[in-house]
Amino acid sequence: MARVFSGIKPSGAVTLGNYVGALRSWVAAQDEDDCVFCVVDLHALTVPHDPAQLRALTLELATVLLAVGVDPDRCTLFVQSHVHEHAELAWLMECTASVGELRRMTQFKEKAGDQEFVSGGLFTYPALMAADILLYDTDRVPVGDDQRQHLELTRDLAGRFNTRFGETFVVPEAAILRVGARVMDLQDPTRKMSKSEDSPQGVILLLEDPSSIERKIRRAVTDTETEVRYDPEAKPGVSNLLALLAAATGSDPAELAGRYQGYGALKADCAEAVVELVRPVQMRYAELAADPRAVASLLGHGAGKARATAAETLARARRAVGLLPGSAQSRRA
Ligand code: TYM
Repeated sequence: MARVFSGIKPSGAVTLGNYVGALRSWVAAQDEDDCVFCVVDLHALTVPHDPAQLRALTLELATVLLAVGVDPDRCTLFVQSHVHEHAELAWLMECTASVGELRRMTQFKEKAGDQEFVSGGLFTYPALMAADILLYDTDRVPVGDDQRQHLELTRDLAGRFNTRFGETFVVPEAAILRVGARVMDLQDPTRKMSKSEDSPQGVILLLEDPSSIERKIRRAVTDTETEVRYDPEAKPGVSNLLALLAAATGSDPAELAGRYQGYGALKADCAEAVVELVRPVQMRYAELAADPRAVASLLGHGAGKARATAAETLARARRAVGLLPGSAQSRRA
């Protein structure tokens, strides 16, 4: 069985992009692989945040993961900060990464932009992400297309560490979908749909009211032509709707395009398919959210399972870099 690891930040409400690009693959992977899934709350500290809101979003996100079908009986589901090994291995990864490499990360450049305050954590974020993945001897990481560069860096860091200090980490592969890996904003289809973006009309939330979803899709930006064609470069708005419809119905966007004469019918079908896609998740969420203590207890159990693996990998990495074992480590080793 391959080991699969992935994570999601509690930095805002879960979007349709998160679901289509990543979470559905997580659920599918549970059937065949040994899966570890994580609510990466430490990553949410890299930008300004409200502490009470972070706590609420972390629990909400864990509940959403259960609602989409992440099953703690068949995988390990936990909160990153409950397993302190993540922060500790992140330091070793920061010391493995170069400033030049971190500076080249496009997400850092985009997020730092012209912000007045840019935290050191935002800069070293990809080293923490590498630690998340490497702690679990991960073979495969299901993610959306926007994480491709971070995965490449993770592979580079694992390889470099292994070369310098001896075989310690499994070098993971990214698993990125062919359709749905980059769901775009409905109002600006040249940028990705994002939970941290201030674009209420362009972003569909997984727990959003169906009538609001329909309205947003009906008002989605297209173009001044009328031809329905799958061409993400020339027709990003129409192609985004085709990709969403394809992802929701398990079909091919280019082939779907041939069935439509105009944008109205495409939008109507896309809205219906998306509403049908999210409906069961919303129903399940309502049930689960009624018992937050049960969710917290599942997370506690998950953290225990995760820690067992993480502690072993960290001990191996500590030994490899030459850290002198303290009493806690020698008990573990
Ligand atoms: P995050 O929280 O931004 O997103 C979670 C997952 O959703 C995918 N995604 C999308 N897919 C398609 N279209 C979109 N518009 C879209 N928006 C988001 C993301 O690619 C991701 O798979 N750095 C990561 C979290 C992380 C992580 C990890 C992931 C931390 N450690 C280790 C994998 C392994 C992030 O910010 O994802």
